[in-house]
Amino acid sequence: MSVCEFRPGLEGIPAAQSGISFVNGQQGILEYRGIRIEELAEKSNFLETAYLLIWGELPTQQELEEFEHEVRHHRRIKYRIRDMMKSFPESGHPMDALQASAAALGLFYSKRDLENPVYVRDAVVRLLATVPTMIAAFQLMRNGNDPVRPHDGLDYSANFLYMLNEREPDPLAARIFDVCLILHAEHTMNASTFSARVTASTLTDPYAVVASAVGTLGGPLHGGANEEVITMLEEIGSVENVRPYLEDCMQRKAKIMGFGHRVYKVKDPRATILQKLAEQLFEKFGYDKYYDIAVELEHAVAEKLGGKGIYPNVDFYSGLVYRKMGIPTDLFTPVFAIARVAGWLAHWKEQLVQNRIYRPTQVYNGHHDVSYTPVHLRQ
Ligand code: ACO
Repeated sequence: MSVCEFRPGLEGIPAAQSGISFVNGQQGILEYRGIRIEELAEKSNFLETAYLLIWGELPTQQELEEFEHEVRHHRRIKYRIRDMMKSFPESGHPMDALQASAAALGLFYSKRDLENPVYVRDAVVRLLATVPTMIAAFQLMRNGNDPVRPHDGLDYSANFLYMLNEREPDPLAARIFDVCLILHAEHTMNASTFSARVTASTLTDPYAVVASAVGTLGGPLHGGANEEVITMLEEIGSVENVRPYLEDCMQRKAKIMGFGHRVYKVKDPRATILQKLAEQLFEKFGYDKYYDIAVELEHAVAEKLGGKGIYPNVDFYSGLVYRKMGIPTDLFTPVFAIARVAGWLAHWKEQLVQNRIYRPTQVYNGHHDVSYTPVHLRQ
C-alpha cells in the first residue's frame, strides 16, 4: 500500500463507496438516489424521501402507506425516557438532551440483531418516529410543562409542530417544514455522517450510531451554524450595518456563519430552495426585517468572497424559516437532526452490507525513546 499524503480534514479523501446521495459542488447539484433535490422538494414528502434514502427506491403506494402507518404508531416514548429527560437541566442544550435520549433508546432495545431485516426496519421506524417526540418533550419539560402526546391524526411534520406548540399548525407551515426536512435529510460524507459510519462499522446498535452522529452535528462548524446565523443577523441589526460588519469580520479573519462549504463552490441548491420557502412564509405570516439583512449580506459576501467560492450554505436561510414558525433558536439544530436521522440510517444500512471497521492511520509527529522522569524531578 502506498503511503498517502496527510490531508487535514481528510479533504478529498473518499471514506466510503456510497449510492445514497451525490453532490456536484461546482454546478450546485444535489441528488438523493439519483433524483434531484429540487424535484423531491416539490413532489415528495419527508417520510417518502426517508424511505427512498434508506431502502434505495421510491416506495409503492402500499409500501408508503405501511411505512407511514408504522412510523405514526411508534411516536410515543417510554415513560422512563420521559422521566429521565425531566431530570435534565433546563439550561442544557437540546442537542445534548437529544444525544442522551437517543443513546438511552439503546438500553430498551439492546438485543442487537443486525442481520435480521425485521430488527433493522424496527430500529429505522423507532428512530424516525421518536426523535421528534423527544425533542418536543424536552422543549415543553424544560419550560415546566408536561409533554404533549403525539397526534395520530396528523402527518409527520404537522405532528411535530403540534407537539412543540400545543396546537395544530397552519397547513402551509407544516408543508414548508416538511420540505425543510427533505432538504436536510442527507448530504454525502459530511462530518456527522462520517461519525455515523465509523460507529456503524464497529457493529454497535443503531441507537449508538445516531447518538454519535447527533453529537457531531451539534458543532458550530456543522449543523450548529443555523443557530449562529440568527445570532449574527441580530448582531448586524440593520441593512446599513451589513458592509461594515463584513469588513470587520474579514479583517479579523472571522468566518461568516451560514457561508462556505467544503464541497459547494457556488450557492448551495438547498439554500436557494430555503430562500424561496422563507419568502412564502413571510408573504403569508408577515415580514421579517432580518430577511433584508440576510439578502444584503448574501450580496456583500458574493462581492467580497465569491472569488473564493464562499456562498450561502443550507444553514443560512433555514434559521429564518424556523424562526418564523416560532421554533426557538436552540431547537434549530435538533430540527436538522430530525431530518438527518434518515441519512444516517441509510448510511448505517449501507455500511453493514460490506462492512470493514474504520481504522485509518496517522502521521506520528511526537518523540521517541524519551526517558521517564520521576515526579519529584519534574519541573
Ligand atoms: N466566511 C469567511 N471566509 C470563509 C468562510 C466563511 N464562512 N468559509 C470559508 N472561508 C474561507 C477561509 O477563511 C479560507 O480562506 P483562506 O484560504 O484565505 O484561508 C477558505 O475560505 C477555505 O476555508 P476552510 O475553513 O479551509 O474551508 P473548509 O472546507 O475547511 O470549511 C466550512 C468549510 C466549515 C463549512 C467553513 O466554510 C465554515 O466554517 N463556514 C461557516 C460555518 C458554517 O456555515 N457551517 C455550516 C456548513 S453546512 C453544514 O455543515 C450543514
